[in-house]
Amino acid sequence: CDTRASLYGQYPFPVGVALRTNKLYPGSPYQELAAGQFNSVTPEYEFKPDALHPAPAAYEWAAADALADFCRQHNQRLHGHTLIWHQALPRWITEFAGSQAEWDALLKDHIQTVCRHFRGQVSSWDVVNEAFEADGTLRSTIWLRHLGSGYLEKAFRYAHEADPDALLFYNDYDLESNPVKRRAVLSWLQAMRQRGVPVHGLGLQLHISIRHPENSQLTEAVQAARQTGLRLHFSEVDVAINPLNQAVEPTPELLQRQADKLRFLVGLYQQLPRAQQHGITFWGVADPDSWIRSYFHRADYPLLFDDNYQPKPAYCTLVRP
Ligand code: G3I
Repeated sequence: CDTRASLYGQYPFPVGVALRTNKLYPGSPYQELAAGQFNSVTPEYEFKPDALHPAPAAYEWAAADALADFCRQHNQRLHGHTLIWHQALPRWITEFAGSQAEWDALLKDHIQTVCRHFRGQVSSWDVVNEAFEADGTLRSTIWLRHLGSGYLEKAFRYAHEADPDALLFYNDYDLESNPVKRRAVLSWLQAMRQRGVPVHGLGLQLHISIRHPENSQLTEAVQAARQTGLRLHFSEVDVAINPLNQAVEPTPELLQRQADKLRFLVGLYQQLPRAQQHGITFWGVADPDSWIRSYFHRADYPLLFDDNYQPKPAYCTLVRP
């Protein structure tokens, strides 16, 4: 197949991609695919605290604004990622030695300054990312240690106060493969909603592989998430074909298994009510861009386009309606 068809044109919901400003060279295959195949963008890095807020009174908007401009030029939705996380924090935050009140002021200032800056450009935010442990307890992050469990509700309320129009998401991984974690997150979200906390959606990152999880687990997870009535975002999709780092080559058989896995996942998403379909976002443009290669230092081929930015079977199976 070829890339004359736009991927997003095949679906009634946004089909997105995680982008990095420093790879958007005009005329590059990266930019051509980013602009032509996707109608939603999630910043892979530029909207995180360590990129935006390098010093207490200093915000660094240039790279983030460049990505927001790119989205506007290409009529793409911009999904902000992420306001509060335990990673990607600047040193001045990880070393901050303030009182609980000063930590609260820091949380509020960061969230509200960023939300106000992007108001009207960012239509939805990952307000909190990865706050739960695999056993269903709250992760002992710097935020929990200094603010207690109330930081989660505060984060959503501060974001809503600064941008009442933005849809506010909680985002996490392994919800598709860990029922204990999933049950804890879903019941916490229900409790938040019952308290009137402005949480509108759930991001399931879905960093999966051709081996794991089974299709039956994916089905169970999506059904459970659907019951919440929340908007659902398949927020960071990639399908590793070498999860055990066995120095595999991307053989036609492995690439077809990747296409089949992705076809199944997208098929599940298509069955959701339209009102719950926030979109599907792939975590990178092409295989060389994947975090998996740099983070795990392993050869892997988890995305829709190959090392030459050519479409793979996974892309072709998604553009064929
Ligand atoms: O480009 C900067 C450079 O200017 C700076 O001097 C240097 C200092 O550390 O960092 C460079 O940025 C790197 C950034 O990626 C952009 O390339 C960071 O080092 C590096 O840590 C960062 O990694 C990102 C990671 O999140 C941490 O922010 C990955 O690209 C990104 O794919 C990964 O994405 C996460 C999601 O946000 C949450 N879910 C898991 C997912 C994978 O880890």
